[in-house]
Amino acid sequence: MKWVAVGGLVVAAGLGACSDGPSVDVPPRPSVDASDATVVDPDGGDGGIADGATPYPFSLPKGFPTPSVPANNPLTKEKVALGRHLFYDKRLSGNGTLSCAGCHEQARAFTDGRPFGIGSTGQVHRRNSQTLANVAYAATMTWANPVLTTLEEQARVPMFGIDPIVELGIRGKEDEVLAALRAEEKYSTLFPAAFPAQADPLTLDNVVRALASFQRTLISGRSAFDRYRYDGDANALTAEQKRGMELFGSETLECFHCHGGFNFTDAVAFEGVPVERRFHNTGLYNIGGAGAFPPGNQGLIDFTGVASDMGKFKAPTLRNIEKTAPYMHDGSIATLDEVLDHYAAGGRTITSGPYAGVGKSNPFKSGFIVSFTISPEDKAAVIAFLRSLTDEAFLTDPSLSNPWPQ
Ligand code: HEC
Ligand code: HEC
Repeated sequence: MKWVAVGGLVVAAGLGACSDGPSVDVPPRPSVDASDATVVDPDGGDGGIADGATPYPFSLPKGFPTPSVPANNPLTKEKVALGRHLFYDKRLSGNGTLSCAGCHEQARAFTDGRPFGIGSTGQVHRRNSQTLANVAYAATMTWANPVLTTLEEQARVPMFGIDPIVELGIRGKEDEVLAALRAEEKYSTLFPAAFPAQADPLTLDNVVRALASFQRTLISGRSAFDRYRYDGDANALTAEQKRGMELFGSETLECFHCHGGFNFTDAVAFEGVPVERRFHNTGLYNIGGAGAFPPGNQGLIDFTGVASDMGKFKAPTLRNIEKTAPYMHDGSIATLDEVLDHYAAGGRTITSGPYAGVGKSNPFKSGFIVSFTISPEDKAAVIAFLRSLTDEAFLTDPSLSNPWPQ
């Protein structure tokens, strides 16, 4: 595998060079569709760390750059502690039944093991719940939205959103939810500690700021791969995993073009680099031979309306990938073995039913999705390498776990 130094970082060769054309150039918008005008105050942060709050010291794994943190929501230990309590609190839903963690479980690298997320009212999401590992580095949020770029804006979607589904269902029940939070004794100290300059800090705006702060601490970079790559432990990977790594980085498999760099995705942003918003069509569908993806879930085109954006989605990080099945934006691939089959075929063929079509011939497919022949041994080696990206310390880190008495 070709690892090269880029801006002081060791990354897989090809990061930055990977392109299916220019990255998406969309002006940022102040808020998102699902946000609620009554609680949105995007610029209303503390404007600096308030007296009495403690800056949060990132202790980043080797090879990891510094995440960007918005100036109006500086990271403090107190906000992280509050955000962790809120992330695991079912009172943060319209009917008291679901928390963020209900769809983002730590043991599964903050995914839920289902093809689709299920909201508090039982509605089924059209998309697969994403991992939150290293989400502090996500260039854009969710599977295919080029303008949703901060964790603050994103948190409003599950909290207040009703389209495509009700997730936490807080819209219209803001007062009840705030009353439920106010009734919890712990919050009577956690909120003032996190926002010491505010007279009445228990607000939904501050909930959003605290949730974003906690999520910025979900850093995963202590896998066997990292011990091998960054700590110089030559024995951290098996011979099979090393072969799998070579294949992963080869011009035959092409994986590294979109899953390169420290976070195994080209969809990263951090301090000191311009944000690039990249999305790719991997040939998962080709309904009717004209390139279509299933209606209602067609990727970037749903946002931009540009025909060639059909089927384009964000390349997910592959960190902890062993724990985040099922795969793809719609959970339509069950195992890593089948993911490799999809790529080896240069796109998935569906032989019958409403989605029938030959993905390999999708006219909007990325030029890096090419078919290749791979022996069963080499396929097993690639999968063994992908398993070396599992970070047990992250999956069991007590500081990221449910803080409430069980
Ligand atoms: C009903 C299940 C569900 C709940 C509850 C939920 N999420 Fe999610 N989450 C999802 C799904 C599904 C996606 C992908 C959405 C999409 O692409 O449209 C997602 C995406 C995300 C992302 C984007 C990750 C990335 O890499 O782009 C973040 C961040 C996130 N959720 C945080 C949260 C937070 C914070 C909460 C609580 C306020 C929460 N989620 C509640 C299902 C859920
Ligand atoms: C052209 C860019 C590109 C290339 C090349 C590529 N991928 Fe991907 N990968 C993506 C995108 C985009 C997705 C999400 C697609 C979707 O959900 O429709 C994805 C999804 C995945 C997933 C599922 C992730 C999840 O969380 O659901 C795995 C595993 C994966 N790729 C592994 C690989 C491997 C192994 C290779 C090389 C054989 C490879 N990829 C090559 C862009 C790429």
